[in-house]
Amino acid sequence: MFDAVARGYDRTNTVLSFGLDRRWREATRRALAPVAGERILDLAAGTGVSTAEFARTGAHCVAADFSLGMLAAGRHRALPMVAADALRLPFADGAFDGVAMLFGLRNLADTSAGLREMARVVRPGGRLVICEFSTPTRQPLRAAYRRLALRAVPPVARTVASSPDAYVYLAESILAWPDQRELATTIAESGWSEVTWRDLTGGIVALHHARKPH
Ligand SMILES: C[S@@+](CC[C@H](N)C(=O)[O-])C[C@H]1O[C@@H](n2cnc3c(N)ncnc32)[C@H](O)[C@@H]1O
Repeated sequence: MFDAVARGYDRTNTVLSFGLDRRWREATRRALAPVAGERILDLAAGTGVSTAEFARTGAHCVAADFSLGMLAAGRHRALPMVAADALRLPFADGAFDGVAMLFGLRNLADTSAGLREMARVVRPGGRLVICEFSTPTRQPLRAAYRRLALRAVPPVARTVASSPDAYVYLAESILAWPDQRELATTIAESGWSEVTWRDLTGGIVALHHARKPH
């Protein structure tokens, strides 16, 4: 499915999010706070658009994704890219200082297994940031988002995306995803401590931050 949407993926994101995706990526970089010389994994990195955002800090950033089509669509970014399944990563224990996953966790076949695998490849004390669609916290926005915004996604995608059916899945998977508190519990039960979150755009997106215990 992701191979099929790779062409035009970056553009479709920007159209469907009214350009907010850029702000969400910047907020993720600030939450992860990579510094020069650190090793950072951007997992389910897609075309590497966020990896490039992190690399501006001087950290050594690796984009990993299991869709060769998505990685190929980001080849112009000239980043280190690795074809890898998030549930079985080809990296040593403790290889990274931090790991970020943007709009990826919702797609894994096993959320907890993915979180545990991320904990394995991060050093003790290292950081995790998950940027994912979530639940708007206030009622008028929540109702409007669910009824209008998510229903508008598939028709809009038909005009701009290379594979519109994938955006029907996008809308359905967002509605089925746990809210902020529930996801925090799953993260805490999957090898991470000090789990906190912050809402972006009224909770349409949430940033979860955690640390690997020493
Ligand atoms: C919605 S895209 C997000 C891409 C990118 N992080 C971004 O913010 O634009 C989800 C990505 O997750 C990847 N993905 C899904 N399951 C995966 C897995 N098990 N291992 C690696 N990548 C996976 C897909 O190939 C796709 O590129």
